Amino acid sequence: MALRLGDIAPNFKAQTTQGEIDFHEWIGNSWCVFFSHPADFTPVCTTELGTVAKYRGEFEARGVKTIALSVDPIGSHQDWIKDINETQCTIVDYPIIADADRSIAHAYDMIHPNAIDNLTVRSVFIIGPDKKVKLTFTYPAAIGRNFDEILRVLDALQLASQYPVATPANWKNGQDVIVTLAVPTEDIPAKFPKGHTVIKPYLRTTPQPNK
Ligand code: BEZ
Repeated sequence: MALRLGDIAPNFKAQTTQGEIDFHEWIGNSWCVFFSHPADFTPVCTTELGTVAKYRGEFEARGVKTIALSVDPIGSHQDWIKDINETQCTIVDYPIIADADRSIAHAYDMIHPNAIDNLTVRSVFIIGPDKKVKLTFTYPAAIGRNFDEILRVLDALQLASQYPVATPANWKNGQDVIVTLAVPTEDIPAKFPKGHTVIKPYLRTTPQPNK
């Protein structure tokens, strides 16, 4: 069965380009972006893995570790990293998992045989420090992911984990947020002293509390 939001991300031990890991131990107290790609030495994947390497500072600033997976073997990953570094002008310094027996891909439902045969699609799992799945999305092989969107949702997820707020459509870091319905309107001033606006009894906004 597919993983659902709120499920514990299945733990595993795996060979990676940075040595063997126990996934949950490796995540530790960080957030994690775990993403699969179909195959090594392919064009879209090359740009994606290079982009994640270039965004290292953005992920680190948010306390996020990144880790990739494909079903190719470790030696192939190591050779391909040289190409990524060369063509994308970066250094891939996060682990890529070798999942040759597809056991991790199956545990995370990353193989969608009606889309692409026996290879992983472009899955993304954002996992919290509590090891629970916070957000997932899936792109087909031919469509590269938007890593700015991944940073945006990390900001939203982390904010919502710290305050009783939700984020409106197309929200960006720094914009007003929605006060959740768990907070009665009369309690908002104490919790959100920067001010608030009652647009409807069920739609109350406040400046982003951690800015
Ligand atoms: C790519 O990364 O370009 C790709 C990989 C597998 C199938 C199609 C495209």
